Amino acid sequence: MKIKINLIIIILFILLISNVNCKKIKNKKHLTPQRLRKFVEHSKPIALNKKVWKINEIENVFSAQIELTFGIKQRNLEELEDFVWRVSDPNDSMYGNYKTFQEVKQWVKPLDESIESVKNWLIGNGILEFKVTDSGDFIRTTVSIDKAETLLSVRYNKMVHRLTKQSFFRSLDPYTVPRELYDHIDFIGGVNHLPLLAPRPKEGSVIDSNDVGYEMDSLKRNKHIKSFNEKKLAARNGDPYLSPDLIRKEMNVTQISTNSTHLGNSQAIAQFLKEYFSPTDLRNFQIRFGLKQDQVENVVGPNQNLNPGIETALDIQYIMAMAPNVPTWVVSTGGLHEGQEPFLDWLVDLSSNPNLPLVHSISYGDDESSIGVSYTDRVDTEFKKYAAMGKTIVFSSGDFGVGCNDACDSFSPGWPASSRFVLAVGGVIKKKDGSIVGDEISGGGFSNYFSRPWYQVDECSSYIEWLNGSLSSFYNQSGRGYPDISSFSENVIILYKDRLMPIGGTSASAPIIAGLLSLINDQRLQNGQNPIGLFNPLLYKIARDHPNSFLDIDFGENNYKCCTNGFKSKNGWDPVTGLGLPNFDELVKHCLE
Ligand SMILES: *[C@@H]1O[C@H](CO)[C@@H](O)[C@H](O)[C@H]1NC(C)=O
Ligand SMILES: *[C@@H]1O[C@H](CO)[C@@H](O)[C@H](O)[C@H]1NC(C)=O
Ligand SMILES: *[C@@H]1O[C@H](CO)[C@@H](O)[C@H](O)[C@H]1NC(C)=O
Ligand SMILES: *[C@@H]1O[C@H](CO)[C@@H](O)[C@H](O)[C@H]1NC(C)=O
Ligand SMILES: *[C@@H]1O[C@H](CO)[C@@H](O)[C@H](O)[C@H]1NC(C)=O
Repeated sequence: MKIKINLIIIILFILLISNVNCKKIKNKKHLTPQRLRKFVEHSKPIALNKKVWKINEIENVFSAQIELTFGIKQRNLEELEDFVWRVSDPNDSMYGNYKTFQEVKQWVKPLDESIESVKNWLIGNGILEFKVTDSGDFIRTTVSIDKAETLLSVRYNKMVHRLTKQSFFRSLDPYTVPRELYDHIDFIGGVNHLPLLAPRPKEGSVIDSNDVGYEMDSLKRNKHIKSFNEKKLAARNGDPYLSPDLIRKEMNVTQISTNSTHLGNSQAIAQFLKEYFSPTDLRNFQIRFGLKQDQVENVVGPNQNLNPGIETALDIQYIMAMAPNVPTWVVSTGGLHEGQEPFLDWLVDLSSNPNLPLVHSISYGDDESSIGVSYTDRVDTEFKKYAAMGKTIVFSSGDFGVGCNDACDSFSPGWPASSRFVLAVGGVIKKKDGSIVGDEISGGGFSNYFSRPWYQVDECSSYIEWLNGSLSSFYNQSGRGYPDISSFSENVIILYKDRLMPIGGTSASAPIIAGLLSLINDQRLQNGQNPIGLFNPLLYKIARDHPNSFLDIDFGENNYKCCTNGFKSKNGWDPVTGLGLPNFDELVKHCLE
């Protein structure tokens, strides 16, 4: 009996000591010796802009929770890329021979061993609840901060956005995984990367009240909808406001029958971070501008009709205005749990959806440099999967011109616009004298992460040659050049909360182009051709063979808030407006050849 009690006391004592030990170790977060672990994304502490974010302690690491997303390594990635280039090259015998969702899924699906290794690692760490996506490409789990810190050997903080007060649990420590897992994981979401909280599209490109744009009269006559904010009206320089009709006219969208839509056609916008859409605003917009009254066909994810966002109003109103009759989806992510990375949610949602629309318009972006290469590479794989299925991904090129950095020693290319597997859309302005010029905010330049793809080698080289060495220390001469194409990015009228307002930003030009691509898809499908998929190779080829398919913009400079010169527009491709503004009726002809 005594021995037993002694034994119990000894065991209790050992437990106590080991508990103390545990705590000590936990503070250091080194449960596995660091030499047995490997960095996945970053190897240095993450730089955080302290002007934008405040770093707080987390009050209770045991109750605070974080969702982790593990991007599992997929197979046959080189073959996937080769395949994408071939099916997207109009000069290749395999052009347009896309694979189905199931085929792509089976082709690149991670090895069972990869999925099992990650699952077993989680289970071994007491994480029993997680979800493997249908395609096996992502695993998601929600754990306490304490658990995440131990698992990844990092320390989390509470990052508070100074302006919006939104807060996120993130770590500035580069995370590691046990060495034997390294080959199975592309990246882990929910650790280092903070979601982008970019300023929303600029509201109100102002106008001189004495020099009202030619569209204003008709807008003012409208009785159904309250007029513009007169104060905003009074400030700008007389550039005209743009309605859907005017935009179509400017781009010569005339001869296309938009009333006979092929059943297989479809398009989507992405909606992030509680930016919802209002069906009422959409309907009133369509009535006000004499458009066909179409409804959104499918809302994937949450929506709050009465709580709309400006960005989403813009995206949905213009993609549908350009492509009436085309079944349109809103793919909504984020907004459910505060603190998630909405872009990642979007990717994960899409990766397992077998019935994706053909064209996706996304107005989202970040500095390339703020994101690790293993993350951008993995997202590129997802883009390649869409391209392999004949889907088109359209991104706005960003609203910060060349992206002047604080040190004024280099430009910051924007991503995902810098991906070779998306169509990047820049911005132009219609001036009061009738000219169309590059917008100073139009995101553009050359990627530091992605090399120049074959489809634009001649165009980028000519531009760089023309620079005669100027700005050469500011950009990467071997990088992918963007944007590819442009549309209007200032003075675009939307209807928001029952009020008409002008909006600026490449957030406007992207859905305009996306809608026009749906019209091209429509014509192609009706002709028995395949959808355009990754459009870029065909687009550059058409620009070469039929230059009148574009209005080449040769004026403007994207030096927005820049300490030095930006890139200047010139004839031919340039990193302000890309190939220019589509001359649509001409362009569409060559897309059907
Ligand atoms: C495209 O293919 C044709 C024949 O199939 C060939 O003559 C032409 O040179 C090719 N063009 C390019 C740019 O590869
Ligand atoms: C489509 O447009 C054509 C020509 O404008 C017209 O004749 C036809 O009736 C329209 N079809 C539908 C379904 O609206
Ligand atoms: C320039 O771009 C290439 C990819 O095209 C990349 O390998 C290289 O690291 C980049 N250079 C810099 C300084 O970022
Ligand atoms: C580069 O030199 C050519 C030939 O002298 C000239 O036409 C061109 O304008 C120059 N480019 C720039 C950006 O000044
Ligand atoms: C539209 O067509 C007119 C007349 O041919 C032309 O002057 C104008 O440049 C075209 N617009 C675009 C964007 O190409």
